[in-house]
Amino acid sequence: MADPTPDTFPANPAAPALSAVEVLHEPGSGTIAGSAGYTADFEECHALRVEHDLALWGNLDRCPTLPEAAEFWRGSEYEERQLYLARLNGKAVGTCSVELPLRENTHTAGIDVLIGPTYRRQGLGRMLLLHAESIARERRRTSLYGYHEVPLAAADGTPLLPAKSGAGGLPVAEPAVAFAAASGYELEQVERSSRLELPVAPELLARLETEASAAAGDYSITGWDDACPEDLVDAYALLKARMSTDVPIAGMDWEGEDWDAGRVRDEERTTARSGLQSAVTAALHSATGELVAYTVLNWRPGVPASIAQQDTLVTAQHRGHRLGLLIKVANLRHAQARWPSAHSVLTWNANENQHMLAINIALGFRPAGYEGEWQKRLG
Ligand SMILES: CC(C)(COP(=O)(O)OP(=O)(O)OC[C@H]1O[C@@H](n2cnc3c(N)ncnc32)[C@H](O)[C@@H]1OP(=O)(O)O)[C@@H](O)C(=O)NCCC(=O)NCCS
Repeated sequence: MADPTPDTFPANPAAPALSAVEVLHEPGSGTIAGSAGYTADFEECHALRVEHDLALWGNLDRCPTLPEAAEFWRGSEYEERQLYLARLNGKAVGTCSVELPLRENTHTAGIDVLIGPTYRRQGLGRMLLLHAESIARERRRTSLYGYHEVPLAAADGTPLLPAKSGAGGLPVAEPAVAFAAASGYELEQVERSSRLELPVAPELLARLETEASAAAGDYSITGWDDACPEDLVDAYALLKARMSTDVPIAGMDWEGEDWDAGRVRDEERTTARSGLQSAVTAALHSATGELVAYTVLNWRPGVPASIAQQDTLVTAQHRGHRLGLLIKVANLRHAQARWPSAHSVLTWNANENQHMLAINIALGFRPAGYEGEWQKRLG
């Protein structure tokens, strides 16, 4: 939880006053209070994010709802999160944040900065970045990471800064790219975001399922909504741990996450408190009964037109049997029936993750934008 003590930059009288934002929730109850329970500071932080998403994308498909943001920023036993609001002459002008993993990756910190559009290019971004970085340093974090997204059209025909991964790049003229590069961050990896229009034709799903089933052979499909069945939760935790190591991470300085049933249940409670619903389809190896693959879709009643693709994993020994396609087809069919108001699915994949991209292209996903993954190692 953020330190609620106000913090300022006394060295520069023109600098914004900066306060730590505290997310209100009823202690011990596990429930977030309703809208009246959020502080004005927190709501203003959220409003800056909403304004930014609308300017960038023209919609809020990627923007957390207020309850989701509140749930996220209260942190967990696995990650401490600090959120700051900067005011200049009383007006909210920007936010910055620090995410501090507590179990593994304790040498890293996630850093983010957002300045309101009319307050940019005045040095405020750099000031907030220095504040966030100083917290990371105090906590002895030596590897900082940050993300931001760029819509497809912004990368059209403009010079690109190549990613160190060797796959793709981001437009050098984008404010976030120029800012991160000028601040000593390196572009390690570029992810592609893709969008699938719903509904997907039942004939396409049926054809892909037939092809994938023929290749898959000795597997059965299972699934659940929102909470993993008790008899699968330990196996599911193992797959979640693999997910943290098996996806391409280029040069990002990350170690694997340690998952157990308790962490799965904690994530499920967080998801429920955020107002999210989730649909999981998984595959079992018939000969051994082993859980070997899963895929997750999330939907939010506050953003009913959009579904977000989360993890998809097939364990290494079971790849090459078209299980990835098989579970994704089954989950999409289920999601379309469960959330009929949804008109699209968003997904994010590393540019170099060709197998996952091929599955998504077969399903009809089309490129929508890019996400930059930046890293700075502190000396
Ligand atoms: C990126 C962002 C935080 C920069 O905030 P800002 O207050 O405008 O940044 P500053 O004025 O402190 O700029 C610091 C340096 O970054 C670089 N920079 C920032 N914006 C730039 C732009 N539009 N074009 C070129 N360089 C830029 C410059 O080197 C600048 O130093 P200079 O002014 O001495 O040349 C702001 O544009 C923003 O909020 N964007 C949306 C959210 C986002 O993408 N966050 C970044 C996550 S990595």
